[in-house]
Amino acid sequence: MTRVICVASGKGGVGKTTVVSNLSAALAALGKSVIAIDGNLTTSNLGLHLGISMYPITLQDVLRGNANIRDAIYYHHDGFKVVPADVSMDKIMSPDAHRLLDVFYKLVGDADFVLIDSAAGLGKEASASIKAADEMIIVTNPELTALTDALKLAQLAKRFETENIGIVVNRVRNESHEFPLSDIEGFLNAPLLGKVHEDHKVRKAIAEKRPVVAHSPRSVSAQQFMAIAAKLAGEEYKVRMPTLYRMWGWLRH
Ligand SMILES: Nc1ncnc2c1ncn2[C@@H]1O[C@H](COP(=O)(O)OP(=O)(O)OP(=O)(O)O)[C@@H](O)[C@H]1O
Ligand SMILES: [Mg+2]
Repeated sequence: MTRVICVASGKGGVGKTTVVSNLSAALAALGKSVIAIDGNLTTSNLGLHLGISMYPITLQDVLRGNANIRDAIYYHHDGFKVVPADVSMDKIMSPDAHRLLDVFYKLVGDADFVLIDSAAGLGKEASASIKAADEMIIVTNPELTALTDALKLAQLAKRFETENIGIVVNRVRNESHEFPLSDIEGFLNAPLLGKVHEDHKVRKAIAEKRPVVAHSPRSVSAQQFMAIAAKLAGEEYKVRMPTLYRMWGWLRH
């Protein structure tokens, strides 16, 4: 059965696109079929993260009724499919939840997972993807501002009857002022799917236009993304952290 999951955040810039590109690559590495959709139609950047920005047919063409969804699906060399959005100014549009639902529905049966990279916030654009999806993952940073916005998002999902399946806490630095991970589940009333550390390898991978999972599979962040993907798929995954990271863990305890 295809799971249609929207990856959303209350606050912008917390790592939704990074999570979508990496969970797509990680689920593909676990043998799952995945379609990643850029549902951020005003500030689209999934294609930029994946090095595929110049597509002839995009989600905007499909939503305007000018193309079939299957013609807007592209294969990524890291083992998953992508439906990109157009990055040009003249293609900016605000999607309608019913049209999106129609598009997602047509993909049911074509993949194990459809992951939607949502726009940030609680506006019309983000609401359309949350409403059209069956499940939602909240991405947040361990800071009060991001968490407060995430709380509103959780309430919005409840209103749309979209199941809030869990939280990914991204850019964790283990600094003393950060909100403790153990408190985040209670605050957002959803399970923690996993954390991803602040890792320069993530930025390096984005600059080289690949998910870190494929670019640096042995890095801390790549292993954390693999663990989250396995949890999502209900599979066992043995995390293999670099030796330096493990030594640092021992020293801290
Ligand atoms: N775990 C991480 N470690 C280091 N840098 C990160 C990490 N996650 C994300 N970043 C950095 O944060 C930037 C923003 O991430 P991303 O584009 O995924 O956020 P977003 O939530 O999709 O933003 P928007 O709301 O604008 O769509 C990335 O370009 C990258 O430089
Ligand atoms: Mg984004």
